[in-house]
Amino acid sequence: MSLRGRDVISLKDFSRVEIDWLLEKSDSMEAYARTGTNLLRGKMMGTLFFEPSTRTRLSFESAMMRLGGGVIGFAEPRVASVEKGENLADTVRTVENYADILVIRHPLEGAARLAADFASVPVINAGSGAEEHPTQALLDLFTIKKELGSIDGITIALVGDLRYGRTVHSLAYGLSLYKVKLHLVSPELLRMRPEVVLDIKNRIKVTETPEMEPLLPELDVLYMTRIQKERFADLAEYEKIKGSYRLNASQLRSAKDRMIVMHPLPRADEIDFEVDRTRHAKYFRQMWYGLLTRMALLASILEPG
Ligand code: NCD
Repeated sequence: MSLRGRDVISLKDFSRVEIDWLLEKSDSMEAYARTGTNLLRGKMMGTLFFEPSTRTRLSFESAMMRLGGGVIGFAEPRVASVEKGENLADTVRTVENYADILVIRHPLEGAARLAADFASVPVINAGSGAEEHPTQALLDLFTIKKELGSIDGITIALVGDLRYGRTVHSLAYGLSLYKVKLHLVSPELLRMRPEVVLDIKNRIKVTETPEMEPLLPELDVLYMTRIQKERFADLAEYEKIKGSYRLNASQLRSAKDRMIVMHPLPRADEIDFEVDRTRHAKYFRQMWYGLLTRMALLASILEPG
């Protein structure tokens, strides 16, 4: 199998066989992550980040450098010609002269797809508005596989902002390729968009509820998310909803021993710090898995033939 030259725009573009293959490859990256390698020497990655990022950008950069490649780009559109009104297509057609692959994060849905249409080099979507964040979903799937041994057979709840959160959309698509039982837990106003729910309901059992606590005893994975304040058109609406879910250590007493708590981070107030010390907390480990997953992706897309 090969992903050479592929764009990574939506998780919907990936089959289960491809995802399983990528997860295997992520596992094999561990040694390279510790010692470094020259696999991608001479290759350059361009990062175009039109929205704030800590983990995604730094892990892509670290992944590329550990593979022996180089990195250019901006993390802040104000310092780029974007500030002068340059359109996305022109920015892409510029940076592709200097880079062999582009990693783009943008506040608008469809931006990554548009960039891929204009680019002659592969494009990776590192977050497109409230739409998708496919590489986060891959690292989430990898985390589940590593921590629980298998994705098939699990019961998982996605909790929080399922409307504006993009990671949960990509993850829901990914999970629907496995035999999982999925609970979507959100306030009424932040329910997952109907087209995503309809799509995944064709393949797996999905329930929707506003209540998290009653589900805790049956879960293998509790995936918490932040209410996406920056995507609310009306801040009064955000004020009403913020703090809807707060996980604390005592609630976890009803959970299975091996249940894992995940979060794409950054967190706001949805996971108390006391949870960090419990055996359930995997959100920091998740970032290590993210590095390996992004190394696997870059290596498979750019690997010389
Ligand atoms: C997420 C994102 O940007 O969508 N962060 C990340 O990449 N890990 C989640 C978020 O911002 O809430």
